[in-house]
Amino acid sequence: MPVEREGPNGATLHEVKAGDASQLEIASNLFLKIFPEDKRYLPYLYACTRGRHPSHPYTLDHVWLVQQAGEWVGLRIFSHITNRAFGHGAYIGFTSRARSQGLGGWLVEQTLAQLDEDARQFGKSGTLGYLVEIERPIDAGSTEERAENEKRLQFHRRCGAILLPVPFMEPVMIEGVDYISTAELQDEQPRPMHLVLIPSKAGAALQNLDIVDFVHGLYLDVYRLPKDHPFIKSALSYVLS
Ligand SMILES: CC(C)(COP(=O)(O)OP(=O)(O)OC[C@H]1O[C@@H](n2cnc3c(N)ncnc32)[C@H](O)[C@@H]1OP(=O)(O)O)[C@@H](O)C(=O)NCCC(=O)NCCS
Repeated sequence: MPVEREGPNGATLHEVKAGDASQLEIASNLFLKIFPEDKRYLPYLYACTRGRHPSHPYTLDHVWLVQQAGEWVGLRIFSHITNRAFGHGAYIGFTSRARSQGLGGWLVEQTLAQLDEDARQFGKSGTLGYLVEIERPIDAGSTEERAENEKRLQFHRRCGAILLPVPFMEPVMIEGVDYISTAELQDEQPRPMHLVLIPSKAGAALQNLDIVDFVHGLYLDVYRLPKDHPFIKSALSYVLS
């Protein structure tokens, strides 16, 4: 499945590259508009526009913009994990006026197509899909937040989401990155999340999912936690006991 640069209602897809100052500005403005509560992670977006970043040695990163009717309306940040047959989806979001017209579903398909290409570039036959961490409605602090979390979960379910049966804690940030200091994240706490696979066709056809591979890919290769980290032990406690 090739990456389609044109989507629903005339939407177009654009890859943001580190050297392109105007696209970087558009991407950061969109990020702040759609994810205002994640402002401190903006340096992560910049890092991902480099494709390969020394602080993310096991991922090939992408930052995409979506334009529709002359307006920048969508942002996607995701990575192929270079030594695995799957990826990680960090952010997907649209401005409110661009939601509910099928752009999200289309962007998920394009992500899978790109991950397929990336996996082949790294010697795999294709991608199994990508992992996402989704807020659990049960942890919401208000009715509005719960409804929002339900909606996100519903969107991913429509995209074929498989909820992996492991207790999962989301680390605050990738370990040891050189662009955000520990001090800047001192108010952040790890959060329990659903760990979810958005499968490609090949991933959806698997008889058995290798949960250990998924957990290791995300914790060791994306977040770069040490092998004996309590989050890894906890996530695999049921699987390996
Ligand atoms: C979650 C999110 C990315 C989904 O994107 P989206 O473009 O709205 O997703 P889709 O349009 O593909 O599907 C969503 C809705 O559109 C409907 N839809 C899909 N195709 C459609 C079409 N051609 N015409 C009309 N409606 C359509 C779907 O049935 C669904 O219905 P809903 O109204 O019950 O939500 C978007 O809501 C968003 O940006 N949210 C804020 C950021 C966020 O929470 N990101 C996820 C975590 S990083």
